[in-house]
Amino acid sequence: MPLLALEDIRKSFASAEGAVPVLQGVSLDVAAGQVVALTGESGSGKSTLLHIAAGLEAPESGRVLIGGQDMAALPDAGRAKLRRGTVGLVFQQFNLVPSLTVGANLAFQARLANVHDAGFCTDLAARLGLSDLLARYPEQLSGGQQQRVAIGRALAARPKVLLADEPTGNLDEATGDAVFTLMLDLARAQGTGLLLVTHSARLAGQCDRRVLLRAGRLA
Ligand SMILES: Nc1ncnc2c1ncn2[C@@H]1O[C@H](COP(=O)(O)OP(=O)(O)OP(=O)(O)O)[C@@H](O)[C@H]1O
Ligand SMILES: [Mg+2]
Repeated sequence: MPLLALEDIRKSFASAEGAVPVLQGVSLDVAAGQVVALTGESGSGKSTLLHIAAGLEAPESGRVLIGGQDMAALPDAGRAKLRRGTVGLVFQQFNLVPSLTVGANLAFQARLANVHDAGFCTDLAARLGLSDLLARYPEQLSGGQQQRVAIGRALAARPKVLLADEPTGNLDEATGDAVFTLMLDLARAQGTGLLLVTHSARLAGQCDRRVLLRAGRLA
């Protein structure tokens, strides 16, 4: 059974000219330990698809199954719990908690999911090059450093499915490559299914599978 299954997802947005279809029947499976690169032009619907996969937005039709469980069939509380415990998110905006230190931000998701492990968190911080920054606050970090915290925060909770929207888009090439490789290594080692948006053909080349979103469908 795939960890994440998207079945015939459809979504359109209202505009002055009427409904604009964005996703027109998208189906995709992500297996445990599999890394899938999602590519496509700006505006093709990549972020929309990730939001739907994360249960943050509802599709008009189609189903999102996480570990075989239909997200829409759960009550709100059940959906939130499933999301917290199994789905990790890294978005274009980092969404760090400004009042918490880097160390506390790193542990935040894992604590919410009740799976915090101090040793694992320390190791993760070291691998992300954050060991010397743990006592700082997000506003005292560069954009690239904040993005590394956001990635570490998601990974610290050891999600079954990790959804990442251009996770290294804000980093310089060397740092971006190192962080990207770390994400892939951890995902594969932990059996996490990873669906990530990237504009880099080079980075997509490191993934197990590449899918292209065009005209509302995957190719
Ligand atoms: N809340 C919304 N209301 C109306 N239109 C929206 C909304 N969210 C997204 N759209 C539209 O849906 C389309 C897909 O947007 P989306 O953000 O998913 O694209 P994307 O592939 O992630 O692009 P990018 O590579 O630039 O991040 C765009 O045309 C966008 O304007
Ligand atoms: Mg986007």
